[in-house]
Amino acid sequence: MSLDHTSAKPHERIATFLAPELAAVNTLIRARMASEHAPRIPEVTAHLIEAGGKRIRPMLTLAAARLCGYGGDHHIRLAATVEFIHTATLLHDDVVDESGQRRGRPTANLLWDNKSSVLVGDYLFARSFQLMVETGSLRVLDILANASATIAEGEVLQLTAAQDLGTSEETYLKIVRGKTAALFAAATEVGGVIAATHEDEIAALRTYGDALGIAFQMVDDLLDWTGGEAIGKNIGDDFRERKLTLPVIRAVTHADTGEWAFWVRTIGKGKQDEGDLERALGLLQTHGTLESTRQTALDWVVTAKNALDVFPDSDLREMLSDLADYVVARIV
Ligand code: IPE
Ligand code: IPE
Ligand code: MG
Ligand code: MG
Repeated sequence: MSLDHTSAKPHERIATFLAPELAAVNTLIRARMASEHAPRIPEVTAHLIEAGGKRIRPMLTLAAARLCGYGGDHHIRLAATVEFIHTATLLHDDVVDESGQRRGRPTANLLWDNKSSVLVGDYLFARSFQLMVETGSLRVLDILANASATIAEGEVLQLTAAQDLGTSEETYLKIVRGKTAALFAAATEVGGVIAATHEDEIAALRTYGDALGIAFQMVDDLLDWTGGEAIGKNIGDDFRERKLTLPVIRAVTHADTGEWAFWVRTIGKGKQDEGDLERALGLLQTHGTLESTRQTALDWVVTAKNALDVFPDSDLREMLSDLADYVVARIV
């Protein structure tokens, strides 16, 4: 990884800036993912956690706390907490989505089984609550408990909206805000709360995290069509799962009679044949919905960056702003 500040990617620059704290977070994660009593737990957690992951959420917590002038060490615990919550949701999500690849490796549900993924996910959730309690802040507990409930709501709403060709952009936004942006917003908000900064700064951090999370998930939904090898996940999972993500919602809106019949068969009825994924991708391209989704994600990036205006100019503020750009730039 290059340490050259002009060429390194924004998240790499933040990682370098926060290197000692991120190392402390990783040490804490390793210590708390162990279990004396059930060897399956460290097997599964090590498989997933040692594979890396971008660590975007813990970086957000650390950066938010530092941006607010925090000088203690509870932000390390909070950063590990949000990564544990994230990892727990990934274990559950790959069962629900029947996914076979995560972080460039076979998923835990494939290598072990669904039961192990669900139960180890539950264990990590519980560990995350132990960690956040150690901060002694009821307000932090409130924020992260709410986020955990909201993530589950988002996943369940998505479950019931799948296969429904009438799904609106409004419903899609609700799903994305729930399953992804809730944790981004909590990750940044708790950084400000633990630093006991002004309420307007805490609100700004929340707005930044929410908007960034929405943009992030929109891009993730694009990468499900176009990402290929580089993202470490299989492409086409969403189509197979018959999910109405934004590019599909917009293509369905513009469908002519033949295209409508195609969407009814493949997503409405779930009858998918060889070549259908390619045809679906072709329709998204014809109607320009991959590009228009990218534009919508960019609008959310602007909202995220504008929220940072309440903070005085600093290297860290600049990096958080660049991180918002990176979330969309990672498409290429
Ligand atoms: C994956 O999140 C789940 C989504 C919200 C799309 P990340 O893309 O941050 O996953 P890792 O942690 O880097 O693997
Ligand atoms: C991820 O949703 C959101 C959560 C894990 C709660 P997705 O199902 O869209 O994410 P990937 O593509 O599997 O990472
Ligand atoms: Mg998934
Ligand atoms: Mg999912």
